[in-house]
Amino acid sequence: MDKFLIRGGLPLKGKIEIGGAKNSALPCLAAALLTPETVTLHNVPYVKDLITQRRLLEDLGATVLTPELRTHKITAKGVDVYEAPYELVKTMRASVLALGPLLARFGQAKVSLPGGCAIGTRPIDLHLRAFEQLGAEVLLERGDVVARAPKGRLKGNVIDFEKVTVTGTENVMMAAALADGRTVIKNAAMEPEIDDLANLLNKMGARIRGAGTDTIEIDGVEALGGAEHTIISDRIETGTFMVAAAITGGELEIKSCVPEHLTAVIAKLRDSGVVVEEINPSTLLVRQGGSGLRACNVTTEPHPQFPTDMQAQYMALMTQADGESKIVETIFENRFMHAAEMIRMGADIHISGNTATVRGKTKLMGAPLLASDLRASASLVLAALCAEGETLIDRVYHIDRGYETIVRKLRSLGADIERIKTSVEETVAEPVAV
Ligand code: EPZ
Repeated sequence: MDKFLIRGGLPLKGKIEIGGAKNSALPCLAAALLTPETVTLHNVPYVKDLITQRRLLEDLGATVLTPELRTHKITAKGVDVYEAPYELVKTMRASVLALGPLLARFGQAKVSLPGGCAIGTRPIDLHLRAFEQLGAEVLLERGDVVARAPKGRLKGNVIDFEKVTVTGTENVMMAAALADGRTVIKNAAMEPEIDDLANLLNKMGARIRGAGTDTIEIDGVEALGGAEHTIISDRIETGTFMVAAAITGGELEIKSCVPEHLTAVIAKLRDSGVVVEEINPSTLLVRQGGSGLRACNVTTEPHPQFPTDMQAQYMALMTQADGESKIVETIFENRFMHAAEMIRMGADIHISGNTATVRGKTKLMGAPLLASDLRASASLVLAALCAEGETLIDRVYHIDRGYETIVRKLRSLGADIERIKTSVEETVAEPVAV
């Protein structure tokens, strides 16, 4: 498995361009299954998870053309398979996003039930219950979810999620777009990616109101058409580079980002002594303030509060802040795997239940580390960038799932980082223009 070798201690400086949002592109690609016409998506990030999603669509019988690396032209005219197999779902649980569109358009779908993952059990019971409320029959057969719309078409209903779920909201929104009648989703997720998906669906002819709020109304239509859409920029990649500027004592101009998607993160970083200037509506200038970093408590919550996908990166920053900070993780029950690795570098972190207590500032020393999931691996790269000496991070395939050309981007900002290749198939090679 590929590794990253990082020599820390260099301040990052320069301009960085943020790519499209992985967590918006994934449902937007799935949404193309709702129509036989062509859906063109721009600003699709070149990351492993999107390559997997593309493969899923092709396995289902859709064609996916890429006239440019980050433009996907998807035509789901020839879909004749309604199954997302275990082999794919086990590598990427977001494959469950095919369930809603297949069920809504073809009245049937079979998707392998995702197993647990490093950060938690992550059941999809809320998705399945919602589909039953839309009139589907949902069975579990030998590890597969087999769903059928007995009357051939789903029926609108009121879905009141007992817990906020991002992909659950997206799956139901896509299914309800072709259902008979009105669906109201209550306690809906409000992440910007939900809004972006709703914008695409409405361009395809759907009738969705209220996306981005906790109540979404969808009037189902008979059929959806093609559309062209540009994916929003990735707020988590933006947040990761903001922390990279602060933790290395550098200064970054972060371009093509959407500051209003990161209000909680920007507020927290400012409280921690990070200077964040909005140069224009899509550019942030970020550096560490003159009096250094100070410890601040944080609790992860659904949007618009502090995102769980920034928790690990923030923990790395807090190891370099003066004082004691408490980090409370309320979304996933096992999302502190990175803490043990940072402790190996000399960090002072104590875990108790869903709370991590970080004492700083501590001097981090380079060490061999093991990445466990996407955001944990990003946090270890950040810790290594400010550590003394060499750090070797193993299993970086996790980071390739959601960060595009991270080695090239960091090197362009002055980081001393290299990818140690071990085998071809596990690596997303740095893309060459097609
Ligand atoms: C999405 O995952 C994101 N993934 C995750 O990003 C992100 O961490 C998460 O939302 C929370 O913001 C994508 O968008 C592809 P949830 P999702 O359903 O939809 C529980 C990354 O790093 N739950 O909102 O799977 C669940 O276990 C990834 O890019 C149920 O109990 O998350 C969790 O505790 C990691 N039953 C909570 O709800 C269900 O049916 C929120 O999960 C569904 C969820």
